[in-house]
Amino acid sequence: MRILGIESSCDETGVALVETATPGSPSSLPRLLAHALHSQIDMHQAYGGVVPELASRDHIRRVLPLTTQVLHEAACTLQDVDVVAYTRGPGLAGALLVGSGVACALAAALGKPVLGVHHLEGHLLSPFLSADPPSFPFVALLVSGGHTQLMRVDGVGRYEILGETIDDAAGEAFDKSAKLMGVPYPGGPGLAKLAEQGDPAAYKLPRPLLHSGNFDFSFAGLKTAVLTQALKLSPSVTQEGSPVRADLAASTQAAIVEVLVKKSMAALKHTGQRCLVVAGGVGANRELRHQLNAACAKAGVRVHYPELHLCTDNGAMIAMAAAMRLDAGRQVAEHRYSFDVKPRWPLDTGV
Ligand code: KG4
Ligand code: ZN
Repeated sequence: MRILGIESSCDETGVALVETATPGSPSSLPRLLAHALHSQIDMHQAYGGVVPELASRDHIRRVLPLTTQVLHEAACTLQDVDVVAYTRGPGLAGALLVGSGVACALAAALGKPVLGVHHLEGHLLSPFLSADPPSFPFVALLVSGGHTQLMRVDGVGRYEILGETIDDAAGEAFDKSAKLMGVPYPGGPGLAKLAEQGDPAAYKLPRPLLHSGNFDFSFAGLKTAVLTQALKLSPSVTQEGSPVRADLAASTQAAIVEVLVKKSMAALKHTGQRCLVVAGGVGANRELRHQLNAACAKAGVRVHYPELHLCTDNGAMIAMAAAMRLDAGRQVAEHRYSFDVKPRWPLDTGV
């Protein structure tokens, strides 16, 4: 069975084609046949963040050419598609409507069923597309631009949230701190690059909720501490090549990474799990990977990541999540072409 996946929840248009395993194939996991992505970062950069209306219009421009490209690369035609999957939520309502509208229209024209996918489930299952896929059960650290969650994952659709952020997400902490240092949107990767030249111990920044005894996170206070420090260091904190700028970037990254690593290790201990899966855009952060690898090696725990290019939003993870849901019998694709996107949608309710 071939599943076309369409992602349009925020500022990336992603399309992919995945094929479920056939009996006798070496892996029981679905296989990625082709995927294509268009990032809107350049377009939004001038505004310092995502402009929802511009995002929706750009998804409209990109989604069909990307679909044609994916089918061409996979040497398939639209008639070879058995199910059309799309991101149903969470995300920007207008942007989601583009993906769901196109998916439903394509499926209706082909007489094929559709499946709405949870964006975070896409991230969560994206490590199954890697060369070293995990196996259930595991603890997941989901760190995206809008969400930071620790979860116990027992199988497809069997997610128990252990803790989550009570205010800003880790990605937001990266992005908002980066903005204070004059790093263009999206600040996370830029701040990480700056941090490579800096001293992570240069500034003492808070590690919020580190000793809270639960698995919740809070990054809003850290952002305020970075702001206070940035004001003290102004104007050199925004100047290209300034050592204090690199030091503040490294200190900020160290604070975020330490909290993520320690809470993940505590969640592993609490659940008795021996496997950690990291997913979402912040999962691309090299310092986070470096420290998680060290902590997991010490604890005798296996750690899995998505391929670097599949950490941030993409269509492959949406097609993969749909394929895994269908394979696990969690869901049936339906000939019901509704436009009920869910801009807000907790992962542990009704997925
Ligand atoms: O998962 P994602 O693509 O989108 C959401 O679903 O939100 O995550 C985007 C987030 C942004 O906050 C971005 O700055 C952050 O991931 N990010 C990074 C890195 N690459 C992306 N943060 C730190 N270091 C990186 N290398
Ligand atoms: Zn995402």
